[in-house]
Amino acid sequence: MAGFIGFHLARYLNARGDFVIGLDNFNTYYDVTLKKKRAQLLQEEGMELLTADIRDRDLLQLALLRHSITHVVHLAAQAGVRHSLYEPDDYVASNLHGFVSVLEACRKVPSLKLIYASSSSVYGLNRKIPFSVEDKTDSPTNLYGATKKANEAIAHAYHHLYGLFVTGLRYFTVYGPWGRPDMAYFRFTEAIAKGETIQVFNHGKMRRDFTYIDDIVRGTAAAIDLGAPCEIFNLGNHRPIELLYLIEWIEKALGKKARKEFLPLQPGETLETCADIEVSRKILNFFPSVPLEEGMSHFINWYTQNS
Ligand SMILES: NC(=O)c1ccc[n+]([C@@H]2O[C@H](COP(=O)([O-])OP(=O)(O)OC[C@H]3O[C@@H](n4cnc5c(N)ncnc54)[C@H](O)[C@@H]3O)[C@@H](O)[C@H]2O)c1
Repeated sequence: MAGFIGFHLARYLNARGDFVIGLDNFNTYYDVTLKKKRAQLLQEEGMELLTADIRDRDLLQLALLRHSITHVVHLAAQAGVRHSLYEPDDYVASNLHGFVSVLEACRKVPSLKLIYASSSSVYGLNRKIPFSVEDKTDSPTNLYGATKKANEAIAHAYHHLYGLFVTGLRYFTVYGPWGRPDMAYFRFTEAIAKGETIQVFNHGKMRRDFTYIDDIVRGTAAAIDLGAPCEIFNLGNHRPIELLYLIEWIEKALGKKARKEFLPLQPGETLETCADIEVSRKILNFFPSVPLEEGMSHFINWYTQNS
């Protein structure tokens, strides 16, 4: 819950009157100070946050029972595509071992509903645009995407075996204030602001379906409220943006020119992502409404006030 999406979701749920309790292991994948600041704000707003690893199954189960938890939103994972090339074991630990640990704890609590984060990365080599939940996802291009694909398969098995209600949300490039410093929009902003060189892969000819955090929070809350038996939804913006356009936009917003180093496509990267959100519109009433320019303005304001 000290993570980017968990932080925003927790504030939203708490503000609407839900009882929210969170857990995070505060790992050092990116700046822990940022995670601690998010956690502090959540605590100031009255939420409890346990410092623990999701692999601690006994602790998880105790917390679920002690607080009569009805819904678990499982967002704790090792994210990032590039990191998976160098530290594969982090993905096995959190996204596979950790994921099963969460499911094992959840299945023992009657009528509990699990909502978990999947990713657009499951689409891997899928060439069909936009990516539909009906499309095949058998060709991941990196270990991160492969673990998310495995999560969906494991969740299905737990639904089949134990009747656990499971909803997977395939998030598409989520951005916004309090965001993740490892993501391109954050790295570009930071480097341009400091006059440092940015690395632009594939000459910037990559398109990402950037989705603003408030839209993601609304879609996730809708999935919680639906509590479907076994579903997967795309949560994306359906408006892919080219990275070069994003860079130009940041340059204008900061009033500074980027120093660019053009590099080839990184192994494991996809050229384009775009979510087909027809099903999410119909079932979750999911209508993302924040254009990139507006969302990035919120991010840049937050960044300039906090750096
Ligand atoms: N942000 C995106 O664009 C995006 C896109 C697709 C999918 N997702 C998925 O959404 C979820 C949330 O992403 P985010 O952007 O908020 O990432 P994040 O890294 O900010 O948040 C994840 C949090 O989980 C914690 N964590 C990791 N491993 C843990 C473990 N073993 N035990 C306890 N805590 C652990 C981390 O400390 C971190 O605070 C992740 O599952 C991610 O894979 C995110």
